[in-house]
Amino acid sequence: MAAVIEIDHLTFNYENGTPALADLNLSVEPGETVVFIGPNGAGKTTLFLYILGLLRQVPREVTVLGRALTSTQAVEAIRGRVGLVFQNPDDQLFCTTVFDDVAFGPINQGLAPAEVKDRVAQSLEAVGLTGYDHRVPHHLSGGEKRRVGLATIFAMAPQVLLLDEPTSSLDPRGRREVIRLLKDFSGTKLVATHDFELALEVATRVVLLHKGRLHADGPPLKILTDETLLKNSGLEMPLVLRYFVELRGRSGEQLSAISSQLSAKKKDKKADC
Ligand SMILES: Nc1ncnc2c1ncn2[C@@H]1O[C@H](COP(=O)(O)OP(=O)(O)O)[C@@H](O)[C@H]1O
Ligand SMILES: [Mg+2]
Repeated sequence: MAAVIEIDHLTFNYENGTPALADLNLSVEPGETVVFIGPNGAGKTTLFLYILGLLRQVPREVTVLGRALTSTQAVEAIRGRVGLVFQNPDDQLFCTTVFDDVAFGPINQGLAPAEVKDRVAQSLEAVGLTGYDHRVPHHLSGGEKRRVGLATIFAMAPQVLLLDEPTSSLDPRGRREVIRLLKDFSGTKLVATHDFELALEVATRVVLLHKGRLHADGPPLKILTDETLLKNSGLEMPLVLRYFVELRGRSGEQLSAISSQLSAKKKDKKADC
């Protein structure tokens, strides 16, 4: 099957000379959920903006859904089929009502008014915000804004989703809700995140970027529990994964011994009550 996204030797520097991406090669297959990790400044956001031609440069090194992005027309043709959810929902929402924000994409796709209405209703329902049509986006909570941001993209029925830090600055419930929405989307996904638990939950593959270069690319658990690799790339393994690695290193017998000790402690506690 043809790749959904192919990137061939991509190097990108910002106009002020800051290097952001260096000799990047990548191929994403249909149905994959590729999670990009890397410290701040690694190039994750730049990569997503570049793929969608949002950096004032035709992304010649990129092929999306079989189409080489060698012209602005080619880039425009794939917008809508590939949806980018920005890290900050305020960059995504610019209308005075939720309805107008969610309708913006489908209207630009040239859909008839009745279909636009249906798309808005379906997208708001998918993100659990039915009835929010007339609300003012900038008055919503962070979690609600994030969900409207997702609805604006869902409304265009994209085949590929790019999500930049989708769980950042959300409370635990908002975060869980966004993870559920990501899991429900059956198309190909590229997700940039610092949230390793999110990565473990949704990724079929993890790509580690460091200083604009691809440092590692492989199975989620392998990359996310490789302490040396993470350290050398300016990252740290979260405590919960540290425990996991610690436990994984023990034999089955040791694990059942720990488990018996824990149950014995529980029984003692009960007897004390
Ligand atoms: N608009 C910009 N102008 C100049 N340099 C930028 C701009 N945006 C990002 N950069 C630089 O590009 C590099 C990659 O940044 P970014 O893609 O935002 O990384 P990440 O999303 O992984 O934190 C960093 O060195 C950053 O300072
Ligand atoms: Mg970023």
